[in-house]
Order: sequence, then C-alpha cells, then structure tokens
Amino acid sequence: MTSYRNVITIDGPVAAGKTVVGRTLARHLGFDYLDTGNMYRAITWLAIRSNIPIGDAAALEELALENPVRITSPQGDEVEVGGHRVGTCLRTPEVNSQVSLVSQVSGVRRAMVDQQRALAANGNMVMVGRDIGTVVLPSSELKIYLTASANNRARRRWQELQDRGQDRDFNLVLEETQERDRLDSQRQDSPLKPAEDSWMVDSSDLTVDQVVELILSRANCLGGATPR
Ligand code: DC
Repeated sequence: MTSYRNVITIDGPVAAGKTVVGRTLARHLGFDYLDTGNMYRAITWLAIRSNIPIGDAAALEELALENPVRITSPQGDEVEVGGHRVGTCLRTPEVNSQVSLVSQVSGVRRAMVDQQRALAANGNMVMVGRDIGTVVLPSSELKIYLTASANNRARRRWQELQDRGQDRDFNLVLEETQERDRLDSQRQDSPLKPAEDSWMVDSSDLTVDQVVELILSRANCLGGATPR
C-alpha cells in the first residue's frame, strides 16, 4: 500500500471546524489544502447544469469519470470542472440540496477517490472530508477525526448564517445538523466514521488556534509533517 508521507487527513461531521482548521494547518505547514467536499459539490453542480437526473447513478458515474475535478489553487478554493470555473457556485441552495444524494453514488465515489489519491501522491497536503482516513488514504501518517457536540456545531452554523444576514431558528439548524449527520453516517458506501487508528479531537471547548496547535504538536512528534 502506498504510504502517503506528509499528508494529514481530517474527517468529521458537518460544522466540526474541519475547513477552518484544515486551511490554517496547511498554511502553518506550507502544505496544499484539499477540501474533498468541494469535489462532490463540483460534480453535483455539473450534473444539475447538464440536466442529469440525480437518481441516474450510471449517468452520474459517467459524468464523474469524464470530467475530472481540477483544483487550481493551493488553498483549494479555485475549482474547475468540465471547462467551467465553479469555485463560487459550490454552495448554492441547489447544490446544497443535491450533494448528499450525489455523494451516495458508489461510481461517483470511486472516481473521486482515484482523483484524491492522485492529488495526494506528492505529499505535503492536508485533505479534509468524511472518508479520507478510512477509505481514501488509510495509510497516511496522521489521521484526525474532528468532532464537537451536535449542539455546539449547530450553534456555529447558526452564527455563520447570522453573520451572512440569514436569520434562522436555532432548533431548525440543530435538526438539519442532526439530519446531515444521519445521512453521512448511515449511507452504505464509505459512511462517516473514525478510522480505527485516527486521533479523536473534540473541538467543543477549543478555539480554532487551540485545535491547530494540538495537531501541529502531534505532527511534530510523529516527525512526519515538517514545514517545507
Ligand atoms: O463537507 P461538505 O458539506 O462540503 O460536503 C458536501 C457533501 O459531500 C456532503 O454530503 C458529504 C459529502 N462528502 C463525502 O461524502 N465524502 C467526502 N470525502 C467529502 C464530502
């Protein structure tokens, strides 16, 4: 099995802080940052644009195989698929509502996993998702499972929405968080769960900087993730 040196994986449920922690960690280490959720979002965007029914698994697989997702910035926020630059289109309500269905399709997952492994082959990367430590890169040296209580995660999500001027009922946000947890952890293919040898980090009572500090000290102890 390939040993992915200098690759840190971060998995965990929605709103656990994976993105901000992953990005900050990558910046500290001089690593690339890859948010694999954006790859599933890019294929979902392309499927909607191409009028492919979200229930048509074979067509979705073909679409994913024929249209590799290109990440064109080291911070992972510039994304291209099918000749379109889609970085700013990945969080529309349409994509939000369809992406968990598209990411359940095994053929789509196989195509994404192959692309993710190829992107990690040169090392020096923080890769974030749901199945990175369990399926994509189980042999990476440092696998983090970042979590926080559902209440805490819903509170963060609610605050984010407030900051964007969207006034939502907290209990509704909590229900949505729990529903996404259910979809992610109960799907048949590659459900969200910690790898057996992943390091569990509960961010409920920690700031982003504290979580990053913890992970950096662990990386230094392993001696595997040295800043370049
Ligand atoms: O992290 P996110 O909300 O951007 O993820 C979008 C969707 O993709 C979400 O339904 C979970 C799914 N996903 C996945 O199945 N596997 C990954 N490695 C990353 C995301």
